Amino acid sequence: SRQWRGIIEEYRDRLPVSDTTEVVTLREGGTPLVPAQVLSERTGCEVHLKVEGANPTGSFKDRGMTMAITRAKEEGAKAVICASTGNTSASAAAYAVRAGMVCAVLVPQGKIALGKMGQALVHGAKILQIDGNFDDCLTLARGLSDNYPVALVNSVNPVRIEGQKTAAFEIVDMLDDAPDIHVLPVGNAGNITAYWKGYQEYAADGIASRTPRMWGFQASGSAPIVRGEPVKDPHTIATAIRIGNPASWAQAERARDESGGFIDEVTDRQILAAYRLLAAQEGVFVEPASAASVAGLLKAAEEGKVDPGQRIVCTVTGNGLKDPDWAVAGAPQPVTVPIDADAAAERLGLA
Ligand code: F0G
Repeated sequence: SRQWRGIIEEYRDRLPVSDTTEVVTLREGGTPLVPAQVLSERTGCEVHLKVEGANPTGSFKDRGMTMAITRAKEEGAKAVICASTGNTSASAAAYAVRAGMVCAVLVPQGKIALGKMGQALVHGAKILQIDGNFDDCLTLARGLSDNYPVALVNSVNPVRIEGQKTAAFEIVDMLDDAPDIHVLPVGNAGNITAYWKGYQEYAADGIASRTPRMWGFQASGSAPIVRGEPVKDPHTIATAIRIGNPASWAQAERARDESGGFIDEVTDRQILAAYRLLAAQEGVFVEPASAASVAGLLKAAEEGKVDPGQRIVCTVTGNGLKDPDWAVAGAPQPVTVPIDADAAAERLGLA
């Protein structure tokens, strides 16, 4: 038996690295594909969850970051920069440590989850909070990387997409073919672009017999692709996807159209309902943005868009521990009892 080696070593021949490339890795990827019993019953389908919160820094960003930091190091960069709603910055900060690089991150002031801020801080990133939203942060980061010696590691860097496409490879490798439908949350739209690329490559090489329909879901207050125009002041409790002008907009529309899929919106209420369902009924704790995929699947099922009997994969993109406020909010406070078995048994309803 051997340990999973990380996405670059596992899929080396399908990634833009050479034989001599020195890989910067935390052994990302190889994440669980978990059968979702309750979702399967609700939809009459075979639903699986691709649990990307199981990556080293707790989100799918690690797949792209191992590629981006590996390449930045190979090209001699001493510093990297990213704009982020939190997860990209956490991942960049960790991989920069592995590579011995300085990491700068630009985040929207007051709009990133505490766990993600803690990750960037503890990994020693230089953090600037920007008095603006993610889109403003990305504009700034692009400008800085154009004019200063610092490499941009956002998903506008094409090697990020290359790394992230490996999630589609893993799914086909595990299921022996592509699913009928793949469902994702959409923010800056890099991930839906990456999955579509991965599925297309496997189909082109005959490893999969087909490609899935790609279904993407944005939060209603941050749904520029659904609206058909940028959203100036995006809002949603799912801060990871609070993005008004996605960088990979055109690529996401291509994934949607070429696959015969769609991109729709889900409300914060629907997101939180899916978030709670996943935790309470499937045993999978994700961050709110991740639940947008499942909220979308349930919405589509209610609208009669889901034919029974299909094989469906929902990517849940980030770990629930990153943003636990929503788990605690609205939940009953645990009661305090004395050190007394009878009292404990009574409160637990066992007596
Ligand atoms: N889910 C989570 C947990 C995310 O962190 C993100 C994006 C997405 C979904 C959307 O993916 O942008 O490829 O469409 N987070 C970025 C960040 C923007 O900065 O961490 P996308």
